[in-house]
Amino acid sequence: MASEKDKIMENIISLAKRRGFIFQGSEIYGGLAGTWDYGPLGVGLKKNIRDLWWKTFVDDSDDMYGIDAAVLMNSKVWEATGHVATFTDPLVEDVKTKKRYRADHLLEENGVNPNGMSLSQMDAEIKSHKLKSPDGNMLGDVRHFNMMFQTKVGATDDSSSVVYLRPETAQGMFVNFKNVIDSFHPKLPFGLAQIGKAFRNEITPGNFIFRLRELEQMEIEYFIREEEWAGQFNSWLGRIKEFLVKIIGLSADHLSEYEHSDEERSFYSKKTVDILFDYPFGAKELYGLAYRTDYDLKKHGEYSSVPLEYFDEKEGKRFSPHVIEPAVGVDRIVLAVLCDAYREDQMGDEKRAYLKLSPKVAPIKAAIFPLLKNKPELVNKARDVYKLLKSDFHSSVMFDDNGNIGKRYRRQDEIGTPFCITIDFETLSDDTVTLRDRDSGKQERIKISELTVLLKKSL
Ligand code: GAP
Repeated sequence: MASEKDKIMENIISLAKRRGFIFQGSEIYGGLAGTWDYGPLGVGLKKNIRDLWWKTFVDDSDDMYGIDAAVLMNSKVWEATGHVATFTDPLVEDVKTKKRYRADHLLEENGVNPNGMSLSQMDAEIKSHKLKSPDGNMLGDVRHFNMMFQTKVGATDDSSSVVYLRPETAQGMFVNFKNVIDSFHPKLPFGLAQIGKAFRNEITPGNFIFRLRELEQMEIEYFIREEEWAGQFNSWLGRIKEFLVKIIGLSADHLSEYEHSDEERSFYSKKTVDILFDYPFGAKELYGLAYRTDYDLKKHGEYSSVPLEYFDEKEGKRFSPHVIEPAVGVDRIVLAVLCDAYREDQMGDEKRAYLKLSPKVAPIKAAIFPLLKNKPELVNKARDVYKLLKSDFHSSVMFDDNGNIGKRYRRQDEIGTPFCITIDFETLSDDTVTLRDRDSGKQERIKISELTVLLKKSL
């Protein structure tokens, strides 16, 4: 039987589809696992999240430089970083159906903690517990599965034409380190930031947009001196949490931290902390923070024969800076926002489902209604108010004259619109409108001339 939390997740996915936030990728052809398409409201929500991130960490900082690197990169990039050899997940196959599963996930689901286990240890555990596939069949041996998608460039079809779709945006920053140093001469500490698509051939994508094969990342490589790493790490941990709570509007109660043990950490990292969000399917990684040392710059320097170094004028020496890396998937923030905001309550005689989105992230900030659709004087006045607000708020305001007022309120509540503005007969005589608050349903009268300032204040 579906649990209460499964039901909530189903309701969120259904709302997201019904109201044009997120659709299954290639749906009319039966979909493609691990891909989802954003509809008009999803685009608005995602853009707001991206814009807020960029404003917070790039535009409002003096020490941050934005880049936008190509998805396709020279294969040597991934040889240098170790991704070709080690960007793998432990895979186990159902010998009958040939369906593939994450060995660590199967162990976890069966009450065995796989953290820190080697491939052969996982294999031994599966065999000693006589674990079966979810379809009840025998499982094969656990083996490595490289998660990078391969493709080929150019007209030749040999091994030299193999390239990978980037599995993280991070390397775009490392390979452009020297370009930014040479063109901008930044002083340490400074960071490179990028938002863009990344691709991972996840063995078991799922939980809606949580584990995707095509995802979007927002990453920063923050270059520092080795001796300051611990202080910088803590400062970034604070900045990330502040961003999630104060800017994105997630509830602090739904966030927790998880520090990777020595066995769990990637080999290049000296400290990794995940910020987890309480999704309905469990507390899972939302944001990652890693101290990557000078591993990447050194490796690229070695493989490319181009030293990736910083020249310290005071001390007169060159060195590869160390790196603190805050990394997050945009889609995971979108999902956290939807789960955090989803509410079911009773308003008057009616049950309603609504999204308690912060005005900052809400795709529609205000909806404008004429009280009655068949009164041209009300419709014209409402259109004037809509035009006025559109000049400041663009596509984040909406005009709606469909159905009765109650229905329009429900529709806007469902998509998380914080304010509804109704033009009625009183408006025609005194230029005031009713402003309704989504969460309480309370209404107040306010002058049209005050609307822009009031909406701006909420953002
Ligand atoms: N450059 C470091 C890096 O990529 P990661 O922990 O593998 O580290 C960073 O990924 C963030 O990207 C994660 O915290 C998560 O938010 C997001 N992410 C990773 N894999 C994902 C996937 N398959 N689907 C959606 N988001 C993903």
